[in-house]
Amino acid sequence: MITTSLVFTALIALSAARPHMRRATCPGGQTTANEACCVWFDVLPDVQDLLDNECGEEAHESLRLTFHDAIGFSLKQGQSGGGGADGSIMAFTDDELKDPANDGTDDIIEKQRPVALKHNVTFGDFIQFAGAVAVSQCKAGPHLKFFAGRPNATQAAPFNSVPEPIDDVDTILARMGDAGFSPEEVVALLASHSVAAQDTIDPSIHGSPFDSTPDTFDSQFFVETLLKGTLFPGNGSNPGEVQSAIEGELRLQSDGLLARDPRTACEWQSFITDHQSMITKFENAMLKLSTLGHDQNDLVDCSDVIPAPDGAKLPDASFPPTLSNADVEAACSATPFPTLSTQPGPATSIARVPAS
Ligand code: HEM
Ligand SMILES: *[C@@H]1O[C@H](CO)[C@@H](O)[C@H](O)[C@H]1NC(C)=O
Ligand SMILES: *[C@@H]1O[C@H](CO)[C@@H](O)[C@H](O)[C@H]1NC(C)=O
Ligand SMILES: *[C@@H]1O[C@H](CO)[C@@H](O)[C@H](O)[C@H]1NC(C)=O
Repeated sequence: MITTSLVFTALIALSAARPHMRRATCPGGQTTANEACCVWFDVLPDVQDLLDNECGEEAHESLRLTFHDAIGFSLKQGQSGGGGADGSIMAFTDDELKDPANDGTDDIIEKQRPVALKHNVTFGDFIQFAGAVAVSQCKAGPHLKFFAGRPNATQAAPFNSVPEPIDDVDTILARMGDAGFSPEEVVALLASHSVAAQDTIDPSIHGSPFDSTPDTFDSQFFVETLLKGTLFPGNGSNPGEVQSAIEGELRLQSDGLLARDPRTACEWQSFITDHQSMITKFENAMLKLSTLGHDQNDLVDCSDVIPAPDGAKLPDASFPPTLSNADVEAACSATPFPTLSTQPGPATSIARVPAS
């Protein structure tokens, strides 16, 4: 009895000290960690609509946009390096889209902006919210956290914030390191390229994906990037492109290099057989990315608004039809390449992600 009332008193004291821990019931009947999160239950159906309720082009582009907005952040340059995840790419689109690294983000910015304005939420919050909802729609997707409360941006991010596929590994790791990411975290973030396609590297093949299952947040990307390149899926070699191993699949030069670099190769290879670790490390790195430029204590945890992904159990990663260990360019010297099965049947061509 005494213990119970002590605990009770302690709980009251705690909730008084931290008012934002009080649960709230929203006008729509949902319960959430904080009343400030209620607006996101109104935003959610509009975002799901905008994403066509699938892990397709709009979801992929929304995930990419979380990165292109947030990475405008620099430990070395401080303030002049950009405000991180602040929505600057949506507020100062004319400036930031002059950087060719942001090519291809215009469509999704123009689709998202009116929805953010309709709900009077900041662009920085909206972009990260849409990205978290986007990956929840992918098969076996991660369940990202979402914090709200980023103020509107005050300035555009400078050029050279965003890594490019023509960059070498030194350049990419230096840029990402300047934003606070270790080489292992860079590899974790690149799990995003498991649900990704390109439009701008080879515009003759819009929607050509980076792995064979662009609607699934699986480990295939980490296998397929390590296969020996034999073909260009489109009209030839373009800047930032190297040969891929499967018809229809486009390989970014940067992904090919990161898969094989001694600083990143072992982490890369480890995700082939450890999907759970890939998901967990991606979730952690995305929390860091999505709050760059902010103190998490100034934000409100609205993660309970993000829908849970389907929790699908995936088959083990495997080689595409006709390919095997003989086609692997293994690059982790510490651990042998894992034993994988080969998918049955003749060589396939990977379908493009349809434009929506
Ligand atoms: C580290 C260096 C990175 C480079 C050089 C890079 C480069 C690229 C390029 C060139 C594209 C194709 C864009 C197009 O033509 O439409 C792309 C797509 C994409 N990227 Fe990255 N990326 C990097 C990191 C990331 C990170 C950290 C994320 C997310 C957290 C991300 C998410 C995506 C997604 C989801 C797509 C697909 C977009 C679509 O299908 O429309 N990328 N990336
Ligand atoms: C929109 O949000 C801003 C910043 O929170 C606030 O100052 C403004 O009053 C809001 N506008 C409307 C129409 O609710
Ligand atoms: C954020 O800034 C834009 C202008 O870039 C403005 O239209 C919008 O109302 C602002 N949103 C909030 C919530 O203050
Ligand atoms: C491929 O096509 C694009 C336009 O779709 C063009 O800009 C590029 O030069 C072409 N590349 C080759 C190697 O033909």
